[in-house]
Amino acid sequence: MRIGVLTGGGDVPGLNAAIRAVARRAFQFGWEVVGVKNGWQGMVEGLYEEMTPKSVSGILHVGGTMLGTSRTNPLKDPKKMEKVFENFKAMRLDALVAIGGDDTLGVAAALTEKGLPAVGVPKTMDNDVAETDYCIGFDTAVTTVADALDKLHTTATAHHRVIVVEVMGRDAGWVAVVGGLAGGADYILAPEAAVSMDELCAHLTKRRDMGKNFAILVVSEGAKVTDLPEEGEDLGEKDAFGHVRLDRRSMGERVAKEIERRIGFEARTVVLGHLQRGGSPTVFDRVLATRLGVFAVDLIRDGRFGHMAALKGNKIVAVDLKTAMSRNKVVDLELYQMAKVFF
Ligand code: F6P
Repeated sequence: MRIGVLTGGGDVPGLNAAIRAVARRAFQFGWEVVGVKNGWQGMVEGLYEEMTPKSVSGILHVGGTMLGTSRTNPLKDPKKMEKVFENFKAMRLDALVAIGGDDTLGVAAALTEKGLPAVGVPKTMDNDVAETDYCIGFDTAVTTVADALDKLHTTATAHHRVIVVEVMGRDAGWVAVVGGLAGGADYILAPEAAVSMDELCAHLTKRRDMGKNFAILVVSEGAKVTDLPEEGEDLGEKDAFGHVRLDRRSMGERVAKEIERRIGFEARTVVLGHLQRGGSPTVFDRVLATRLGVFAVDLIRDGRFGHMAALKGNKIVAVDLKTAMSRNKVVDLELYQMAKVFF
C-alpha cells in the first residue's frame, strides 16, 4: 500500500503532528508514504516527496506544516481535476489523506465521489467543520487569544481605555467566544449574534458608571454589527474558494472608532491576525492531531473512503465526509448567552 498525505488551507499548529501520525501509523503497517506539497496544488502539479521515518522525526511540536499549504481549488477547473487523477496515478498512490478545513475537505469529498479514494482529517483554527467537536489548531489559537487578553487587561486598566481585540474566525465565532470566555472579555461580537453599537455603547456606559473605566472587547473579523458606518470596509478579491479577506473589514478598528465617537471612551485596537496560527501546538492539539492522524490511516486500512476522522465526546470516530461538508458548525447560541453572564 502506498498513500499520500497533504495539508491545505490556512496553516495551524498541529499539522505536523498529524502528518507524523499518518506516516508513523502507515510505516507500522509496512506501507509507503508520499508527502504531497502545498495542498491540492501538489496534486495538480505533481509536487511531492517520499516520506521516511527520519523526515517525520522531531516535528511533533513544530508549528506550520512541513508539506506547505495553499488555497488551490481544483474543482474550479476540469483540467485541474484531470491532473489530480493523473498525478494520483503517476505518484502510484492507493489512497490519500487530506488534512484541512471545509475547503480542502470539500475537494476530498468531491474527488471521492468521482472515484479517488480519500479520507479526511479536520483542521482549522475556526473550528467550524461540522460533525467533529474540535478541529486541529483551534485550541492553540484560543490559547493565544486568552494569553493576549491577559496581557491587554493590565494596560487597559492602567490607561482606563477600551481595548478592542480583533480575532479570526471567518463565518463562525468559536475563536471569539471561547477565546473571550477564557480571557475574561467584557463583550464579545461574533457572526452568530448580531449586535448594535447602541447596545454595545449602552453596556460600556453602564460599566463606566459602575466605576469600571476600562473594557476588553473581542470582535470576530466576521462579526455582525447592525449600525456600524461602512467606511473602512474594503473587501478586495475573492480567493479560489470564493472567500473575501475578512481582515479587510477592519471590524476592530471600526468598532473602536465608533465607541470613541459615540461615548468618548478612549479606545485602541489590536488585530491578532496570523499570530493565532503561529507557535507550538498545545498539548490538546498535539494529542488530537495524533489520534486523528492514526485513525485516518486505519480508515484507509478498512477501505472506508469518503470518511473523516472526527472527535465526538472523548472518542475518535468515522463520520461521512459529505455530511460533514454539508454545513458549517457555528457557535451554539446557548454558549454565547452563557458568556454574556460575564459582560
Ligand atoms: O480559515 C482560517 C483563517 O485563519 C480564517 O480565520 C481567516 O479568515 C483566514 O484563514 C485568513 O486567511 P489567509 O491566511 O489567507 O490570510
